[in-house]
Amino acid sequence: MTLQIKSFDEYKDAYRRSVDDPEAFWAEQASTFEWREKWHTVLENDFITPDVKWFVGGKLNITENCLDRHVKTKPDQLAIIWEPNEVFQKPLRLTYKQLLSEVNKCANALKEMGVSKGDRICFYMPMIPQVAIAMLACARIGAIHSVVFAGFSANSLADRIKDASCKMVICSDFNHRGPKTIPVKEVVDEAIKMGCDSVEKVLVFQSTNKNVEWNPDLDIWWHDIVDRQDDVCEPEVMDSEDMLFILYTSGSTGKPKGVVHTVGGYMVYTCFTFKNVFQYEEGDTYWCTADVGWITGHSYILYGPLLAGATTLMFEGVPGHPDAGRFWRVCEKHRVNQFYTAPTAIRALMAAGWHEPEHYDLSELKVIGSVGEPINEEAWHWYDEKVARGNAKIVDTWWQTETGGILITPLPNITDTKPCFASYPLPGVQPVLVDQNGTELVGNNVEGLLCIKFPWPSILRTTYGDHERCKSTYFAPFKGMYFTGDGAKRDEDGRYRIIGRVDDVINVSGHRIGTAEVEDAINQHSGVVESAVVGYPHDIKGQGIYAYVKAHHEIVEEAHFRKEILDIVTKAIGPIAKPDVIQFVIQLPKTRSGKIMRRILRKIAERDTSNLGDTSTLLNPESVDELKEGAEKIFNS
Ligand code: WT7
Repeated sequence: MTLQIKSFDEYKDAYRRSVDDPEAFWAEQASTFEWREKWHTVLENDFITPDVKWFVGGKLNITENCLDRHVKTKPDQLAIIWEPNEVFQKPLRLTYKQLLSEVNKCANALKEMGVSKGDRICFYMPMIPQVAIAMLACARIGAIHSVVFAGFSANSLADRIKDASCKMVICSDFNHRGPKTIPVKEVVDEAIKMGCDSVEKVLVFQSTNKNVEWNPDLDIWWHDIVDRQDDVCEPEVMDSEDMLFILYTSGSTGKPKGVVHTVGGYMVYTCFTFKNVFQYEEGDTYWCTADVGWITGHSYILYGPLLAGATTLMFEGVPGHPDAGRFWRVCEKHRVNQFYTAPTAIRALMAAGWHEPEHYDLSELKVIGSVGEPINEEAWHWYDEKVARGNAKIVDTWWQTETGGILITPLPNITDTKPCFASYPLPGVQPVLVDQNGTELVGNNVEGLLCIKFPWPSILRTTYGDHERCKSTYFAPFKGMYFTGDGAKRDEDGRYRIIGRVDDVINVSGHRIGTAEVEDAINQHSGVVESAVVGYPHDIKGQGIYAYVKAHHEIVEEAHFRKEILDIVTKAIGPIAKPDVIQFVIQLPKTRSGKIMRRILRKIAERDTSNLGDTSTLLNPESVDELKEGAEKIFNS
């Protein structure tokens, strides 16, 4: 059994052991899983190249550990509870035995369609059980899944399919989201037409009786091929360091990069963190509201919980449908014990109905989590008073797509909680704060750039097809350390508070948006000369997107121009990247070397213009007053 820490003393002991002898600590955790062959070396640690390997030489299949292992001991325990979009629809329940047989059928179907070990399979799916089944089916046969959030545009989808030369796309016909039915396959069709020549097949799950365009050379219905398969499929024996999945995420520059996670380390770390952070006990029902298109969905809807033999709830819908009580109704209905969501959802629900949770029985909740962005004090206290109500503990979990699992978090009833603090590192995690020069800030009560100085098992291994980019983004900034891109404070007791990104990444409703990506999209408009995008505080989304746009000509129809820009961004990236504010400018503030002064733009967008610093060295200092005036007009309108 994976170690489950139960007291502060046990935490301190585990932490100390994990730092004194990381290899012994993680070997102990790894040995609780089923391996076809044991590793010969626990860790190869190279943070320079970088080249990190865990459980080297080990052979296994992660689905044997997620499924077969539990089928042996508790075949009839629920693995997945699926709560559909509509309140009146019946939930679907899959036991471990049923899930294994569904996964095997899907795996056999993939094989029949010519998929084999190492092939990349792109997913563009809503939150239905088939997404979990198909991801596990890939892992069963050694294919690499690359899940793309179904809110991204055809353009973004095409970029991701091409970057990983995916052999196949798995999608549904439509997506039920709240009151809407959104076309899914249509977007896939559009993406494939954008030069995705690697795609040989599109597997389509039917979730409505609406018509879709059909291309018989490419498209296959799920029910035509999966349902008739045998429900036994021998798992492919994988190397510990074989790729498990690719997941794209935005950075400060360029296009999104494909973060690569491998089988062995990811398995050990997600299971360990799931059991400890959520203190999952046999018989509990756990619910994470994330979408499977993000890392939270991979690690803490699917892999972590299933590895731990948990019952994991998947929700198809949205928090506000049919009303702001939906989350609490689901918690009550399924007697949820651990609940994990994002600050943006907490703030939205808080705004929609301060007292709403009071109408529901939430007494089964033991742990309630937050992830994705800093949680503000007001939201933290509301979550504590209205949802936790003295029964549950809040865990503010900090981590990233690249880290694979939670790194810094309170442990419920084990370490203390302090509003807005992710608090202490988990065993095996060695955070450091450094200044701009990479000098470590020792002691407490300091603030700096957050780095991690020793590998943990689920650290990213590379960025797909571009190892240099992985190195320059994460390992080159501070030699011998992994750089997170976040700023953080360490308080007088050594607790961490994450402040937010220090790079050009905006965190909108917990989604990472690269400012450069949005600018590239805006600049595609023929009427735009240049643009600069920054984040600004937003009551619900955490950060909103603020775009400064310089046009070629005087703008006649501003509303029309604005709409065209929003449409272009929606088309290029997706609706989540649409600017909340567009300010048309005569000029952008530039340094003498022609660089846009983002610091000034950020301050103006934040409405904090009292101290703009020295603007006299700008190439065009007069731009600042123009910008301030323009911003005032927007805020006052
Ligand atoms: C970025 C990573 C990890 C899954 C969801 C997001 C921010 C994440 C917290 C937190 C403050 C947080 C960071 C991080 N972030 N969790 N508890 N407190 N900030 O994954 O899309 O890779 O984004 O989200 O800025 O770098 P992601």
